[in-house]
Amino acid sequence: MSTTERIVPHHIAIVMDGNGRWATKRFLPRVAGHKKGVDALRACVRHCGDIGVKVLTVFAFSSENWNRPAEEVSGLMELLAMALAREVPQLQSEGVRIHFVGDRSALSEKVRQGLVQAEARTAGNERLVLNVCFNYGGRWDIAQAAAKLAERGEPITEASLDRAMALAHVPDPDLLIRTGGELRISNFLLWQAAYSELYFTPRLWPEFDAAALDEAIADYGRRERRFGRTSEQVGTPSGTNRKAA
Ligand code: IPE
Ligand code: IPE
Ligand code: MG
Repeated sequence: MSTTERIVPHHIAIVMDGNGRWATKRFLPRVAGHKKGVDALRACVRHCGDIGVKVLTVFAFSSENWNRPAEEVSGLMELLAMALAREVPQLQSEGVRIHFVGDRSALSEKVRQGLVQAEARTAGNERLVLNVCFNYGGRWDIAQAAAKLAERGEPITEASLDRAMALAHVPDPDLLIRTGGELRISNFLLWQAAYSELYFTPRLWPEFDAAALDEAIADYGRRERRFGRTSEQVGTPSGTNRKAA
């Protein structure tokens, strides 16, 4: 690392998009792109741990992805089950604590058990928190949080909703990356990304490597995060982006 201090985001969120196009370009089935996407995620998790990112939240399957061809949906379910079986020992040895975020009710019993086991096995790890958003949607999250509060008869405030959200165990993301070139959120962290710095890259997810992540982080380091204040109030020259107290 260079002598200039790198500003490492505490929490990075990623819309891992572009697997299908990566495969199609190579005349491969789309599922081959998703497999390659798991490799890219493994490398990304490792790099985040190495450089001191504390939380990584990735979008793996959206509430809307059920609308894809049945073959692709079942391929993604199988891939999740396979990845669970294969990756957990590695995560364990790297000090990664995994959480699955999303509506589990639509998943098979076998997959649900796999999620619970992976979470239990890695529960003691503290180096990096990995949130895998699967059958997740930002609107689902806000609705389930509101429903929880209504059931308990609690008033709905920003703070109470925040505590009832599926990502209440981590602070909001500092940097939100989307690979694959689309300039949209696609129902990802609608509530939590209120003040995230956004970074879009045309690079397809299977090709998003450690160097590409470093580029995104360097870009983040040049942002000035004002949280509604003026530049003068933030009181630091552009190029610093720590949250104002
Ligand atoms: C993202 O890649 C992964 C999932 C949505 C599961 P895509 O499958 O959306 O890839 P493109 O956008 O079609 O290239
Ligand atoms: C977003 O990608 C969801 C995931 C990466 C899991 P999509 O490829 O589903 O997004 P849209 O449909 O193009 O907006
Ligand atoms: Mg896509």
